[in-house]
Amino acid sequence: MKKYFFVSTLLVLVFSCKYVTKKEAGALTVNPYAYAIQKKITASNGAVVSAHPLASIVGTEILKQGGNAFDAAIATQLALAVVYPGAGNIGGGGFMVARTNNGENIAIDYREKAPGKASRDMYLDSAGNPLLDKSQNGHLAAGVPGTVAGLFAAMQYAKLPFKQLIQPAIELAQNGFALTEAEAASLNSIQADLKALNTQPNAFQKQTAWKAGDTLLQKDLALTLTRIRDEGKKGFYEGETAKLIVEEMKRANGIISPEDLKNYEAAERNPVVFNYKDYQIISMPLPSSGGIIIQQCLRMIEDKNIGAMGFHSAAAMQLMIEAERRSYADRAEYMGDADFVKVPVKTLVSDAYTKERMKDFIPGKAGSSQQTKAGTTGKESEETTHLSIVDKWGNMVAVTTTLNGGYGSRTVVGGAGFFLNNEMDDFSVKPGVPNMYGALGTEANAIQPGKRMLSSMTPTIVLKHNQPFIVVGTPGGTTIPTSVFQSILNVTEFGLNAEDAVNKPKFHHQWMPDVVYVERDFPLPVIDSLKAMGYTIEQRGQIGRTELIRIHKGSTDSAYTFEAIADKRGDDDAEAY
Ligand code: GLY
Repeated sequence: MKKYFFVSTLLVLVFSCKYVTKKEAGALTVNPYAYAIQKKITASNGAVVSAHPLASIVGTEILKQGGNAFDAAIATQLALAVVYPGAGNIGGGGFMVARTNNGENIAIDYREKAPGKASRDMYLDSAGNPLLDKSQNGHLAAGVPGTVAGLFAAMQYAKLPFKQLIQPAIELAQNGFALTEAEAASLNSIQADLKALNTQPNAFQKQTAWKAGDTLLQKDLALTLTRIRDEGKKGFYEGETAKLIVEEMKRANGIISPEDLKNYEAAERNPVVFNYKDYQIISMPLPSSGGIIIQQCLRMIEDKNIGAMGFHSAAAMQLMIEAERRSYADRAEYMGDADFVKVPVKTLVSDAYTKERMKDFIPGKAGSSQQTKAGTTGKESEETTHLSIVDKWGNMVAVTTTLNGGYGSRTVVGGAGFFLNNEMDDFSVKPGVPNMYGALGTEANAIQPGKRMLSSMTPTIVLKHNQPFIVVGTPGGTTIPTSVFQSILNVTEFGLNAEDAVNKPKFHHQWMPDVVYVERDFPLPVIDSLKAMGYTIEQRGQIGRTELIRIHKGSTDSAYTFEAIADKRGDDDAEAY
């Protein structure tokens, strides 16, 4: 008889004996039917924070088996592709930002690309009206997936064989795991879309409602993961898996071709690296807007002694809001895939430019997005996922990965068992016209074959006096950079402990609409002060799910203590040893 119960923030799922025995290297050591959610842990050998306890546990087990933070990041992502199908993925894309213990900064870009048959106006009807259903749902919404290429690109920094890193994911898919209450509810909420957007049977559709404790078995996905284990990158981009993707495309007018898959490559980029006071920030460059936005925002506030204004003070918030307004205006106007369009990055992040942008800032008086001229932007989907990892050698890895919307296009590749992304909607389907989430853009982010769509994902690492200090990131669409900006300032300027830095209510401004969004538990007196300055405030649901590891120096030069914090806002889980 299956049952479940809650103990404070601890969800414990207890089921009949379905323990997986330890056979293969990397075989699953956790019982996927009896696991708990842990929000905070301190340890000194390594730490993993992710959106799901089973994924965090898998990552930590890999660290215990002698793997480094890269091994753990690869294994955790693969596990998330099984246990967190709404955003964990092999059918989407992502970014990895890392710093090795010998001081090398790394950015791996495995963002999806527009298929070769994509075109600028592919989501417009003959009268030029946007067909948003097509950019968001089903086969035509999918970009060429990048995640598997990204995992193999990261292997050059890993220590353990790939077979060992993927084995737990294969077992979780093959033997199943128990759903949490939130996951069951989430799967129930997409049943109508699954029916409408799929022609083949899949693991996620069910005649009766999913409930907490139900087993999710993904046999097709286990076969796909096994092909990737045995054939490497080709096990996804060529052969049987590629054939299944292309067959799926043909069933509903999708356009991803065998050539698109075979030619997909992840790219190593020069990370965004800059100093802010005593800190060095390492973050994701284009095609993510995230690293540039946090660099611009921090530059714009740098000379204002924001720490003295105080956490959640109206003065500090106003300063941050006005920096965000200006930066997001620039995002909409200038940013896109730098492999395709010229983006004036050096100017955008320069001292002279950012100081000039803040010249019309008036303390105590709300700015105006009508007067802050630039392009336009808006709300993106918020279903993405982040993982933060450190190891005992001082390697730090931050990964943000996504299908875009929850469960992406909601189309599962028949016979292959994974969701395809709907990342094409992150392009401007028609420059100047809002997409489903209200996002506007310009030519810089228009669709072109082979181009990567602009992202907000901001996996970020912070050093203090050149020493490991913070690994951080979050899902949340356009709220990602502002959440990372706040989390960094919460620790570095406002003196919050790591837990409060993650869990205290967050706010967001993105130029257009000219609204300050605050979480529902945001303190009312601050809201009133901001309203008195002339701001329009809207309460909204949760902003992001931040996964943060704060690193403290240990007793010797190479020893560290890791404080791993999983956001209170979801099933997110922190593991360490
Ligand atoms: N799909 C969300 C992002 O990349 O920003």
